[in-house]
Amino acid sequence: MDESKTMTMPGQSQYAGLASKVAVVTGGASGIGAEIVTRLARHGARVAIVDIDDASAAALQESLKREGKGESRYYRCDLTSVDSITETCARIESEFGPVQVLVNNAANDVRHDLDSVDEARFDELIAVNLRHQFFMTKHLRKGMAASGGGAIINMGSHAAYIGAAAMPVYGAAKAGVFGLTRAFARELGRDRIRVNQVVPGWVLTEKQRQLWWSPEAEQRRRDGQCIADEILAGDVAEMVLFLASDSARLCTNQSWFVDGGRN
Ligand SMILES: NC(=O)c1ccc[n+]([C@@H]2O[C@H](COP(=O)([O-])OP(=O)(O)OC[C@H]3O[C@@H](n4cnc5c(N)ncnc54)[C@H](O)[C@@H]3O)[C@@H](O)[C@H]2O)c1
Repeated sequence: MDESKTMTMPGQSQYAGLASKVAVVTGGASGIGAEIVTRLARHGARVAIVDIDDASAAALQESLKREGKGESRYYRCDLTSVDSITETCARIESEFGPVQVLVNNAANDVRHDLDSVDEARFDELIAVNLRHQFFMTKHLRKGMAASGGGAIINMGSHAAYIGAAAMPVYGAAKAGVFGLTRAFARELGRDRIRVNQVVPGWVLTEKQRQLWWSPEAEQRRRDGQCIADEILAGDVAEMVLFLASDSARLCTNQSWFVDGGRN
C-alpha cells in the first residue's frame, strides 16, 4: 500500500476563545514553534514570538502579514540569559498586556556524546532546553493570574522516554520538563492556570531533515510507531491549540503525546 495516501494534513480546528488572547511562543520563529504561531494568529490571537533567529522571524511575520490574521511581534531574546528573559517578559506585558497563553517551545537538540560534555557544556544544554521554561513561567504567571487564568504548554520530547543515547543532557532536560509541569500545575491551579506538557515524537521539520535524517533513523521511526505516518508540525500545533483553548478547561497536570504511539 502506498502509505503517503493514508497521511492527511492536520486540519485546522477552530476555538472561538483564542481570538482575544495574548500568546507567547518561545522558539516561535521556525519549526514547530512557527506552526503554532501561525495557527494561533489564524485564530486572531495576539502573538509574541520570542527567538534569536531574526531571519526566520522576519519571514514568518511576512507570511502572517500576507494572511492578514492576528497580530504578531518579534522579541529577540537569548533564552539562555535569565536577565534577557526578565527584560523581554516585562516588554511583552507592557506592549501587549497580560499573557493568557505561554508556549515554552524553544530548545536545541544538538547531538552530544557522554565524553564531549564538560561542566560548562552541561549547563549550556540545560539552559537552552529546560531553564527558560522555569523563568518564563515565573515572570508571566502573575499577570496571567491577575487576568483570570491561562494555559502554559511546555514542550517535552519523546527523547526523555525512549532513551536517546546521542543526546543524554537533552533527554535529561526534557525529563525535567515533566517534573516542572507537574509542580507548576499543582501550584498554579489555584490561580486557574493550567500547565501541560506536549510530547512530540520525531517531527521532520526542515532542520531535522537537513541535520539528522537517514534511512536507518527513518526506519526506526516507522518501526517504533503504532501508526507509521510521518508526524507533522501541524499535528503537534493542533494539540497545543486544544490545550491553550477553553475546550481544555479541566485538562492540566498531564503529558499529551503526539508520537504515533511510539512510547
Ligand atoms: N522536531 C522534533 O522531532 C521534536 C521531537 C520532540 C520534541 N521536540 C521539541 O519541540 C520543540 C520544537 O522543536 P523544533 O524541532 O521545532 O525545534 P527547532 O530546533 O527547529 O526550533 C527551535 C526554535 O528555538 C529557537 N531557539 C534556540 N535556541 C534559542 C535561544 N537560546 N534563545 C531563543 N530562541 C532559541 C530557534 O531559533 C528555533 O526557532 C522543542 O522544544 C523540541 O525539543 C521536537
